[in-house]
Amino acid sequence: MTAPTEDNTTLAFPVPRTCPYQLPAEYAGLRESSPVAKVTLPTGRSAWILTRYEDVRKALADPRLSSDRGHPDFPMLVELAKSDRDSTLSLAGMDAPEHTAARRAVVGEFTFRRMEALRPRIQDIVDACIDEMLAGPKPADLVKALSFPVPSLVICELLGVSDTDRDFFEDRTSRMLSMTLPPLTRQQAFFDLQTYLDELVTSKEESPEDDLLSRQVAKGRQAGTYDHDALVDLAFLLLTAGHDTTGNMISLGTLALLERPELRARITDDPGSTPDVVEELLRYFTITDIITARVAKDDVEIGGQIIRVGEGVFALGGSANRDPAVFENPDELDVDRGARQHLAFGHGPHQCLGQSLARMELEIVYETLLRRVPGLRLAESVDDLPLKNDAAIFGLHGLPVIW
Ligand code: HEM
Repeated sequence: MTAPTEDNTTLAFPVPRTCPYQLPAEYAGLRESSPVAKVTLPTGRSAWILTRYEDVRKALADPRLSSDRGHPDFPMLVELAKSDRDSTLSLAGMDAPEHTAARRAVVGEFTFRRMEALRPRIQDIVDACIDEMLAGPKPADLVKALSFPVPSLVICELLGVSDTDRDFFEDRTSRMLSMTLPPLTRQQAFFDLQTYLDELVTSKEESPEDDLLSRQVAKGRQAGTYDHDALVDLAFLLLTAGHDTTGNMISLGTLALLERPELRARITDDPGSTPDVVEELLRYFTITDIITARVAKDDVEIGGQIIRVGEGVFALGGSANRDPAVFENPDELDVDRGARQHLAFGHGPHQCLGQSLARMELEIVYETLLRRVPGLRLAESVDDLPLKNDAAIFGLHGLPVIW
């Protein structure tokens, strides 16, 4: 079925969000009338979008729907040359059985226990960023003060980037992900980071330390499967997958906390409830709505619709997470609902590898910020905040705050 529009053309996708708190209004109508709907992408190609929770879950677990970004029919939002499609995506762009093996090789790095061991370092990083913000001018842009540096420095910690290289790493990461710098500057930052990560992996091969990359080198060598380039790609994936996602959730979650005194009080009065607040904020914002794309390797029936081989699908986690069939009053932020079954981290074999880390970062940022800066408030009306509709991951370009 085709997504209806007023002039009877196919709905253009992605649909921009017009408010930080709400998803595109079209999703609710589609969930009711055509939950598996055809849309037109900016490339002019068409694809399917799934808007119901059950269909999104089913699709993300279906091995006939492929994550292979190198596939000529993979639904892209911009037309890319084949050579640009399959580089640096590492396991995020693989299917079973390669994906299963690649994920198994690294999953031990992301256990809850290993992430908990990072907690004191993450706390230090967050405290240092807040110190710097408090010492600087008012209003401060929270995106620059926290949302960008915290995930970047945490990834440095994970990968074993030395203290002396961190400014360079953070600078190039923010340039690469910037939506305002000229494309050539961003591309140069991308190349700089690739070169840097290549050299970093080489240095871990020569002088191993106690970090993820060094352990991957040792494990790979022991198994006789070590591949330098694959490890550089994995490092790049961790950087890109863990940065903008966590950063945008820092911005949006802080916005919600500043605007809702009762939510803020939940954390300040009872820091033990922060994980529940984080979980509900993840469900509510679901910023990765458009990255869970797939291409059909076989005909697949979903929600009564046959997705033909070669057709593209966007399994909209955001829409799924506002499905009233699963979440009562889904447009309400309700910390007591127990939102654990949300799909903000995806579902199935590609479910977010870094979710324990992301949860911990968000818990530490929200709790520390509200505790240390009790007078923190927005310096602008929420209606004036610049929304990130021009990026694959939704968020805010800026969040001016005072205290
Ligand atoms: C995959 C969301 C933070 C590493 C995913 C997927 C989603 C997601 C939806 C599934 C993509 C798909 O099915 O195609 C998020 C959100 C985050 C976050 C909302 C923050 C709030 C992180 C962090 C890391 C990370 C901190 C690691 C440093 C990954 C990796 C994958 C992934 C490696 C690919 C897994 C695979 O293909 O097997 N993430 N993520 N993510 N995420 Fe995250």
